[in-house]
Amino acid sequence: MPIERLAFQGLRNLAPLDLRLQPGINLLLGANGSGKTSLLEGIHILAMGRSFRTQQLKHAISHDADALSLHARIGGDPPLPIGVRRQRSGSELEMRMAGERVARVAQLVEALPLQLINPDAFRLLEGSPSSRREFLDWGVFHVKHDFFEVWKGVRRALKHRNALLRHGRMDDRSLAVWEYELAQWGERLDVLRSDYMTAFVPVFEETLAALLPLPDLTLRYSRGWDRQRSLIEVLKQGRDTDRQMGFTQQGPQRADLRLRIERRPAVEVLSRGQQKLVVSALKLAQGRLLERQTGRRCLYLIDDLPAELDARHQQVFCQWLETMRCQAFITSVEPQALRDTWQPNTQFSVFHVKHGEVAPDDSVALTHGTKDFTTE
Ligand SMILES: Nc1ncnc2c1ncn2[C@@H]1O[C@H](COP(=O)(O)OP(=O)(O)O)[C@@H](O)[C@H]1O
Ligand SMILES: [Mg+2]
Repeated sequence: MPIERLAFQGLRNLAPLDLRLQPGINLLLGANGSGKTSLLEGIHILAMGRSFRTQQLKHAISHDADALSLHARIGGDPPLPIGVRRQRSGSELEMRMAGERVARVAQLVEALPLQLINPDAFRLLEGSPSSRREFLDWGVFHVKHDFFEVWKGVRRALKHRNALLRHGRMDDRSLAVWEYELAQWGERLDVLRSDYMTAFVPVFEETLAALLPLPDLTLRYSRGWDRQRSLIEVLKQGRDTDRQMGFTQQGPQRADLRLRIERRPAVEVLSRGQQKLVVSALKLAQGRLLERQTGRRCLYLIDDLPAELDARHQQVFCQWLETMRCQAFITSVEPQALRDTWQPNTQFSVFHVKHGEVAPDDSVALTHGTKDFTTE
């Protein structure tokens, strides 16, 4: 569902803003340092409960403000107001949906499925497995209802088993209890992830073929433990070495996505530009699969597309976004960038970002002073 309205206060260098938005493409144009990435960051915090720029949300609070507060109204019948607030003096992110406090970030994530493509995106291939696991689990979370419960079960069991391993107690009976739990939840998580990947791989291959034909590239899900053995077997047999290491070495917490070209990791073979295209294909494919499996569209935040992709690939990328009819926020420093890319029937608006002020291209007056419409 698209964001219809966005109101921010106390975010980085941005002046208080209140914007009405189109469901389609929203282009954010402005010089370096004007506040474009901050605007995307605000949407990301609203949708994910965290920033993509900093681990500590207090860094995102404007230097001269006591708090940041971000609100959005998500279109639908009825529309859904969501809001988050983080005080400089506090430590917690307060979250509200439809006027009610919510305790879990997962509720925000569910309300606003979001994909980010920015200059760090290529790290998905290069970086640690945890970023690929997060990518995979984003997809599973949005299409499988029981994912969150199963994932929490894994986390709880793993935490207890690791604590027992670390304390070096030879209490095999307690270990067995948590191994049983971990095996039950872990096998379920593997089924969910593996089913998701079965559906995902062909969509990814099709998307990649349009962006960058790499017929030798393979994408495979690796579940995190020996393919021939059950998880309970692996855990029982691994007790001694796990005790020495002080943590559980195999299991769903080690799952990964393997991208290879003729048996070599794709990241060793591809140029940086090609890596960006592969990552773009992965992220577009997740949006396409989400739509196919749930009828919901996800929101794309694309920071500096022209720096990411050359003109021809930008064109193909934008065509996919258009056919997916997703709401997208795309930033650029070039005033004329991406203006002529779109089909006549694509909803398209331009915003200028200048010294922290965000104004629609048609010079519609900006409403200053943000009203909290989450309680409307
Ligand atoms: N907490 C903050 N308070 C006020 N200004 C900030 C804060 N953090 C960063 N800035 C400033 O915000 C400006 C906008 O940054 P950014 O959104 O990255 O711009 P753009 O993406 O348009 O290049 C930068 O000049 C930066 O120095
Ligand atoms: Mg930027």
